[in-house]
Amino acid sequence: MMQTTQTTQQTPAYVLETHNLCKRYGAIEVTRDIDFKIARGARHALIGPNGAGKTTFVNLVTGVTAPTSGTIFLDGKEVTQTTPQHRVAAGLARTFQINTLFTELTVAENVAIPIAQRLGLGWKVWGKTGKHAALVEQAALLLDQLGLLALAARPVNQLAYGQRRMVEIAIALALKPQVLLLDEPAAGIPNGESGIILDLLERLPEHISILFIEHDMNLVFRFAKKITVLVEGGILTEGTPAEIRADDRVRNVYLGRRHA
Ligand SMILES: Nc1ncnc2c1ncn2[C@@H]1O[C@H](COP(=O)(O)OP(=O)(O)O)[C@@H](O)[C@H]1O
Ligand SMILES: [Mg+2]
Repeated sequence: MMQTTQTTQQTPAYVLETHNLCKRYGAIEVTRDIDFKIARGARHALIGPNGAGKTTFVNLVTGVTAPTSGTIFLDGKEVTQTTPQHRVAAGLARTFQINTLFTELTVAENVAIPIAQRLGLGWKVWGKTGKHAALVEQAALLLDQLGLLALAARPVNQLAYGQRRMVEIAIALALKPQVLLLDEPAAGIPNGESGIILDLLERLPEHISILFIEHDMNLVFRFAKKITVLVEGGILTEGTPAEIRADDRVRNVYLGRRHA
């Protein structure tokens, strides 16, 4: 048989992996030996009580915080020692638990900033009208895909809180990530309205792997195909929504406490 010259390099099944990831602050272990994997195209949720270490985990993976020990792989390549900027360029994006928008700018301008960043243009284009208009146009295109075009020309400071949270997700998407880490994207949105975030998440391209950190179990069970439960810095268990729902340990540490 003839050998083809086609590349035979395999695509790793997991877009993100951690091995034995640990983080200590002094004597306090906030991340304990975490072996974690996100599959390609995953709809994966990370849950756990307040202080369990969810945000710390996101900070370690994105490179904002250096681990005490352990390794992190993005698309099969080790990134443990790399900068946050490198990881963004390699396809990792996140949203924050707290608001990070430029409230004086329009929604499209807020989304245009990460587009400029991805294209390596930086802030310099901001004064240059032609470039600026082209970027805002690209931003509007993305907003349209997400069903948010009606917000494009509005200044962020005129938006309702839930709308701002949706813009944050659009901003993360503007980086064209392979993996998107959402740290409580529905936090602060009144219970009855948090479905708007879920509707938006359901519009995201299927190939993007999503890790969703969320308190509202209704949202988690509607969104996730797989759930990892974090308790006191370590993984308690992982499973399908049905498995997690039926797990007494999870009920005790998380669900039980919440609904007590
Ligand atoms: N910079 C820090 N210094 C000391 N302790 C920290 C620091 N950052 C987080 N922690 C602690 O780590 C634990 C996990 O926090 P966090 O990751 O924010 O939890 P979660 O997002 O699950 O609510 C908490 O006990 C918190 O106080
Ligand atoms: Mg948190």
